[in-house]
Amino acid sequence: MHAINCIGILTSGGDAPGMNAAIRAVTRTALYNGFGVKGIYHGYRGLINNEVETLTTDSVSNIIQRGGTILKTARSKEFETSEGRKTAFDNIQAHGIDALVVIGGDGSLAGARVLAAEYDFPIVGLPGTIDNDLSGTDTTIGYDTALNTITWAVDKIRDTAMSHERLFFIEVMGRNAGFLALNGAVATGAEAAIIPEIATEVDQLAELIQSGFRKSKNSSIVLVAESEVTGGAMGLAERVKREYPEYEVRVTILGHIQRGGSPTAADRILATRMGEAAVNALIEGQRNVMVGIQDDRLVYVPFSKAIRDDKPINRDLLQTIKMLSV
Ligand code: F6P
Repeated sequence: MHAINCIGILTSGGDAPGMNAAIRAVTRTALYNGFGVKGIYHGYRGLINNEVETLTTDSVSNIIQRGGTILKTARSKEFETSEGRKTAFDNIQAHGIDALVVIGGDGSLAGARVLAAEYDFPIVGLPGTIDNDLSGTDTTIGYDTALNTITWAVDKIRDTAMSHERLFFIEVMGRNAGFLALNGAVATGAEAAIIPEIATEVDQLAELIQSGFRKSKNSSIVLVAESEVTGGAMGLAERVKREYPEYEVRVTILGHIQRGGSPTAADRILATRMGEAAVNALIEGQRNVMVGIQDDRLVYVPFSKAIRDDKPINRDLLQTIKMLSV
């Protein structure tokens, strides 16, 4: 295998709080071990457009607490083509980059997997997404911060929901995964979480209404995972208006507020540990793996497993939410 002298780093896809902490950890661990570091701006798009700069220890000063990503990010259609990837790889070589650390979600790691295979090039991934939908890792960088932002926001909505005695559907992100909705519902004491993982098994709305969920309460909060299969908060509100007109319903879509803000301590620690592990993985000769965390231990997960769309939710929590909203 070609010796590694210089490590490139990029962030790709939706940003996530903690990405900067990861960039800092990768950069400084690499410098500590005598490697050069190149930062690639705007993810794969920047790789294609040759937006590459040398990173020094100063480049990553004072960023551990900042949300977003100093390297910027993008979703690149061009990188999905073999011509795009060829240009990207030519630029990798032109800059003397011998290995890449990619921080992003499933689309970003899927891209890394293809590039690594096409050019037999060492890439290590870090799970950077608020969605928590990567397999082989208990949690992802940004998920804890997003969950805390959801909790903060829902607490505020609860005040007005109670005052007006209304039913609120609050839509949270997650793409096709219900982790934010499910755990957000537990953290805020919501009456229910409507999530895509069980959307084809039960009519979650009918079940909620039929359970007589407002027997002892005059307001209700329901967290809804964005997704075509759940219908989203708007879709569910329309259904309530049609099928259960006795309820006064309101919708809040939390949107991109969930992606911003200073990372929590948990996300900073996770990103720092994973960033260090990414460089160690390359030193050990690992390639085409994502760094994950399982039971507080850092692990290497092959890209093929990490991007598999089958990370299980904790179904027991659905029962917990139901029981506690008696
Ligand atoms: O993957 C992160 C995420 O925030 C998803 O939860 C959401 O579906 C998507 O990105 C939104 O993407 P964009 O910012 O491109 O609209």
